[in-house]
Amino acid sequence: MSDRLKFSFVAPALPSGGTLVVFAGDDLALAPAVVDLLGPAAVEAVSRAMAAEKFKAKAKSSLVVPGPAGLQADRLVVVGIGKASDRRETDHVALGGAVAGAVGRARAVLVLLDGPEDFRSDPEAAADIALGARLRAYAFDRYKTKKDEDEQDLTTAFAIACADPAAAKKAWKARDAVASGVVLARDLVNEPPNVLYPAEFARRAAALSDLGVEVEVFDEKQLGKIGMRALLGVGQGSAHESQVVVMRWSGARKKGTAPLCFIGKGVCFDTGGVSLKPGAGMEDMKGDMAGAACVVGLMHALAARKAKVDAVGIIGLVENMPDGKAIRPGDILTSLSGQTIEIINTDAEGRLVLADVLWYAKERFKPAAMIDLATLTGAIVVALGQENAGLFSNDDAIADRLVAAGRATGENVWRMPLGSAYDKMIDSKFADMKNTGGRHAGSVTAAQFLKRFVGDVPWAHLDVAGTAMGSPASDVNRSWASGWGVRLLDRFVAEHYE
Ligand code: BES
Ligand code: MN
Ligand code: ZN
Repeated sequence: MSDRLKFSFVAPALPSGGTLVVFAGDDLALAPAVVDLLGPAAVEAVSRAMAAEKFKAKAKSSLVVPGPAGLQADRLVVVGIGKASDRRETDHVALGGAVAGAVGRARAVLVLLDGPEDFRSDPEAAADIALGARLRAYAFDRYKTKKDEDEQDLTTAFAIACADPAAAKKAWKARDAVASGVVLARDLVNEPPNVLYPAEFARRAAALSDLGVEVEVFDEKQLGKIGMRALLGVGQGSAHESQVVVMRWSGARKKGTAPLCFIGKGVCFDTGGVSLKPGAGMEDMKGDMAGAACVVGLMHALAARKAKVDAVGIIGLVENMPDGKAIRPGDILTSLSGQTIEIINTDAEGRLVLADVLWYAKERFKPAAMIDLATLTGAIVVALGQENAGLFSNDDAIADRLVAAGRATGENVWRMPLGSAYDKMIDSKFADMKNTGGRHAGSVTAAQFLKRFVGDVPWAHLDVAGTAMGSPASDVNRSWASGWGVRLLDRFVAEHYE
């Protein structure tokens, strides 16, 4: 079960049980309003506990005080917010994650948001705490049939007490929509590949129509008519039919403006094909559809918060299998653009899928900008690890906006180069291009390949192979899948296109 927490926003008051959370800075002082509310006995209990445990209130650290004197709460949890000099910059989303981590599986939680003067406690801060808590509490346990007692599906009433609960509730509405998008993306990436094959993925994307998204699903017959032979080539060794899903959200104030297009690589499982991957770790390739999952999560977020933008999501869904019918190294495919591609390695399949989807998006929607997300190369993980996604773009303004949105959300991107010297590396003896560029600069030649299918459209490519899955535990995520990119792109849209 993925959503344990039930949020509410209330006026400050003491709870009659459950877990009470308060914040303390590194001077160990509680906010004056909190001191008044707790009363002298509880304040004394807290300071004795802090001294006994040598609690320093470092940012996001926590201390549990069971059965605090003078209170009806079953326990009080003090969460650190660190040094005064850092408090203005506090990332309330990460802090909310730390709070959810510290309280564990309590039945009722009340967070008193008041802190020292230099700590933000406005409605936006309250809503950010809830966002972080919801993301942190996510767990993918659908396939666990045996659960410990403390893992049972119990819900937690999670209340945040602040000065203006009505405004906080309003601010939470949009964040809740985005959180649902992140959770949806995580669920899709975590699902096993026998369950989430292309047609099933398409069905889940089609459920966005409940939110007012117009959804079209194309099957292999229709894709053949359109001419997506590069994409179909990847899927031709699989028992599962390839699919392309187009999702349209029309929320712009003015009708007829050029939309933003978001495009995702949706390789539901990547064995490498005939150029088979080694066995060790191959199970992780169920996450090779994380780009597509992010696009679906983003479309969910935009529709659920009724974003004032026209956005189109397009995902290419395939399974890359070795088979008698599969493509071979040496094959030449004709893409939708008419350009021909010599297959050197059938494991460089994501770019074949994206080539057709990018071209289709450009021709059909004449977008103001296109952004694709793909778990495209192992080389990007070598270059940037799991801290940054690789960003490649033909447009400095879009690139700068993505970098800024990354800083604001903690979903960071690092710009990588493009250039004609790299482009030459994918010229082919037999066709217009080949699908790999050799050992050097593997992420860059992959991006150069995509660039041949975007024409003059302002475009950015995000290589998310390092950030979307196998994620290290963070304040806001404990799951294998991170849902990376939903918050980044939601922010990008909200700041510049609404
Ligand atoms: N899906 C992989 C890339 C990948 C690797 C994603 C590790 C997540 C973690 C992609 O399809 C692939 O296999 N790329 C090859 C390209 C090579 C054959 C040019 C790679 O990175 O090795
Ligand atoms: Mn591959
Ligand atoms: Zn792949």
